[in-house]
Amino acid sequence: MTSKKPIGRREFIIGASVLAAGGLAALAVQQPAIAFPTETCGVGGSGRRKILVAYGSQYGTTGDVADAIGRVFCGAGHRVDVAQVKADPDPAGYDAVVIGAPVHADAWLSEATTYVGDHHAALSRVPVAYFLTCMTLGLTQQPEDRARIAEVFTAVHAQVPDVQPVDAGLFAGALDFGRMSLANQLMYRAFAEDSTEGDHRDWSAIRSWAAALQPRLTSAGGETRTRS
Ligand SMILES: Cc1cc2nc3c(=O)[nH]c(=O)nc-3n(C[C@H](O)[C@H](O)[C@H](O)COP(=O)(O)O)c2cc1C
Repeated sequence: MTSKKPIGRREFIIGASVLAAGGLAALAVQQPAIAFPTETCGVGGSGRRKILVAYGSQYGTTGDVADAIGRVFCGAGHRVDVAQVKADPDPAGYDAVVIGAPVHADAWLSEATTYVGDHHAALSRVPVAYFLTCMTLGLTQQPEDRARIAEVFTAVHAQVPDVQPVDAGLFAGALDFGRMSLANQLMYRAFAEDSTEGDHRDWSAIRSWAAALQPRLTSAGGETRTRS
């Protein structure tokens, strides 16, 4: 019969430290739950269009912007689906498509550019609009800063030139450290030029943009092309 060797004080401290470090590491990468809106609204029908609002988002706040845009289109009587680009909704079934995502490191979130590239053939056949959210425009609205942010879409156009958006909305975004894992929060604070958090989304500007955009997305061709 073998008897278990009692754990010494040293082994106990090492073991406890390993467990504590593992626990802290798990806590640091733990991502708080985030809601990403996925909505369908409007009924479609005669004279109505079917519009897709597809968005990329890491922390969900751009999803809320996509949702607000979709609701404006529904209010105008159209049938609208709001979906994440990650879900890869097929744009071929829509009369118009709006695609939005936040700016990360001076570029549109890559999943949005990938989506546009993957579906460029279908997207080049219907009216399309882009939008972005970013913290820069929450902190400054100087024309030179807007121009610098607009460069994000110059890069998208260079990658997918056959998709030509009828408009591109530039919106102040939001950053909520409470939605980030501790590790991402520390990384963001260490590397971002201006690491302040805050919600700068201007809902009135977002809805006005959507309202002005809606006829440009839906009047092309004149005929009803709704597929419900
Ligand atoms: C990793 C990371 C990088 C970012 N880079 C930029 C940037 O280069 N320029 C900027 O203006 N905002 C930047 N932001 C701010 C986001 O664009 C902004 O907070 C956005 O609204 C977040 O959208 P989401 O909640 O849908 O992920 C960055 C945010 C994160 C988390």
